[in-house]
Amino acid sequence: MYFSKIKYTGAYVPERIVTNDELEKMVDTDDEWIRSRTGIGERRVSMGENTSELAAKSAQDIIRKGNISPEDIELIIVATATPERITPSAACMVQAAIGASRAVAFDISAACSGFVFALSAADKFIRTGAYKNALVIGAEVLSKYVDWTDRTTCVLFGDGAAGAYIERSDKPGIIAEDIGCDGSKGMCLNGGYNTAANAFNDAEQYSDRFIHMDGKAVFDFATRKVPESAKRLLEENGVSTDDIKYVVPHQANERIVKIISRKLKIPMDRFYLNMFRYGNTSAASIPIALNEMFEKNMVAEGDRLLLAGFGGGLTWCSMLIDV
Ligand code: COA
Repeated sequence: MYFSKIKYTGAYVPERIVTNDELEKMVDTDDEWIRSRTGIGERRVSMGENTSELAAKSAQDIIRKGNISPEDIELIIVATATPERITPSAACMVQAAIGASRAVAFDISAACSGFVFALSAADKFIRTGAYKNALVIGAEVLSKYVDWTDRTTCVLFGDGAAGAYIERSDKPGIIAEDIGCDGSKGMCLNGGYNTAANAFNDAEQYSDRFIHMDGKAVFDFATRKVPESAKRLLEENGVSTDDIKYVVPHQANERIVKIISRKLKIPMDRFYLNMFRYGNTSAASIPIALNEMFEKNMVAEGDRLLLAGFGGGLTWCSMLIDV
């Protein structure tokens, strides 16, 4: 039996910063409302780069830091809800862009839980011995699906990409996860819809690319499901909250994180937060945070982390990791 371990992380975010003050000029909102309800101060927005380009740049950051030969990469999984095409997948486009000619590459769609779902899948491939390493990226250009006239959603989201290179290891790295879905609540957070119109039926030709959200329903789901899932994961693996050095939550909303902190009885100073600078970058949110923590040397070998997220689907994810 093998284990998999995170060896290197990397990230890429677009340079363009959109502040709350700038949004104040576009919709009926204000900096105080956005900060107090979400903890978000600014977000990055693509100036034309699409999802696979962000993903490839974050992959290049990982390759550079780890001095990895692209031809040695065996598996690439990109978690994204916003690929630029139906085909090729963002992962295949990354494979070509970085020259990882031997890698098997595919995408996973699990919205904001996507990175943890992808990490879980890559871990299984490595544990079974199928592959020795994997590049797992979360990448989103949400700005192309945001209705910039809708104040209830446009203040929340941002663009970015980040990921991790994981490798076969004798020691546990990715320990276990608790991931799940409730498709019956899927419409609480939906976007990018096309009817099934074609030349053989009379279905109306209609598309609506914008993200729509029942904010309260998602808030209630997140504050109930994430603590439940994290508690179950800790219990099943005999891990106490005292063993967790940091929780790396999905960076959707500071108020949600505060409730999770209270329910798990883990103080807020052990939650890593950066939503103030990036907003909710969906599948990129947890790996952007993880990469910052690695870059700041906040974690050392052997430290135990809890990744905790939720998102469209609706989905949830908790994962225990030893650095
Ligand atoms: N600026 C100013 N006012 C706003 C606003 C904005 N950007 N967005 C909404 N409002 C208004 C609403 O229209 C409402 O006005 P009304 O009472 O006149 O109808 C009022 O503020 C209160 O709205 P409400 O929905 O009660 O606010 P809230 O406290 O629930 O906060 C969210 C809204 C979206 C911040 C909150 O529900 C949330 O974070 N939900 C989870 C969303 C999320 O994380 N989604 C991603 C999941 S991965």
